[in-house]
Amino acid sequence: MQHIRHFTSLLDFSSAELHTLINRAIELKNNRDPDYQPLKGKVLGMIFEKSSTRTRISFEAGMAQFGGSAIFLSPRDTQLGRGEPLEDSARVISSMVDCIMLRTHKHETVTTFARYSRVPVINGLTDLKHPCQLLADMQTYFELRGDIAGKTVAWIGDGNNMCHSYINAARQFDFKLNIACPFDYRPHQEIVDAAGSRIAFFQDPKDAASGADLVVTDVWASMGQEDEQKKRELAFESFQVNREVMNAAHSDALFMHCLPAHRGEEVSADVIDGPQSVIFPEAENRLHAQKALLEFLIGR
Ligand code: CP
Ligand code: NVA
Repeated sequence: MQHIRHFTSLLDFSSAELHTLINRAIELKNNRDPDYQPLKGKVLGMIFEKSSTRTRISFEAGMAQFGGSAIFLSPRDTQLGRGEPLEDSARVISSMVDCIMLRTHKHETVTTFARYSRVPVINGLTDLKHPCQLLADMQTYFELRGDIAGKTVAWIGDGNNMCHSYINAARQFDFKLNIACPFDYRPHQEIVDAAGSRIAFFQDPKDAASGADLVVTDVWASMGQEDEQKKRELAFESFQVNREVMNAAHSDALFMHCLPAHRGEEVSADVIDGPQSVIFPEAENRLHAQKALLEFLIGR
């Protein structure tokens, strides 16, 4: 059987492939051609264990714009929710569609699915990683500022799925990542270790942001952690991206957030709604970056 490519992590692709994807995403965005339909007749199956606005709409719209279609599946409505084995589900679903996107709690759900799937599997967010968001974030940086290689990115807040994907992006796109994070909420040590000297930890968000070209944060309580909201609000109190933190960064530094955001918690309203914030182009780029991803995986 032909080797199937999956996108469960940024590390599934080479650095060169990721750069090609970013360039292609920018090209697709700037030269929208309704007659270009490389996915005509192709179907994307999308399994969502968690809520989504951007991921669902960008994949569904992207498939439609490329001449294909997408099916939204929630575990509640499928046999997956009643305990049908992942292995069987992967074999069955992949016998009927051309690509599968999953948003799940456990990362292993996506990797197990990939192991048994006959078609490419895309990680649309797990508790561990959110690689599609990084394609959009990198596209946004490249569009507005050029190559991110050698630049400094500050991650402020939880050592969560987005933080892990930023660490992997630091490896693949060759930037320095300063992380300011409460000790108990640090990212997984093995993911940090694999990125070597590119990663540095700071107690004070202003120190992490010092000299940064891009400042990024995310919610303090991710999906599935709603019960910890109050505890986390206390732990992360001094980790808000506000004007003081942005002032420590370069004057032309960008601010990104994958959204949805909580103004007044992880980011102040004046920063997220201010001139350095690029959250809306960042969100829109989910569409363009994932069209490039789909074209790469199933467009031939
Ligand atoms: N950023 C992101 O993945 O958004 P959704 O949860 O709305 O898909
Ligand atoms: N860290 C967040 C990202 C949402 C897109 C979460 O997992 O809920």
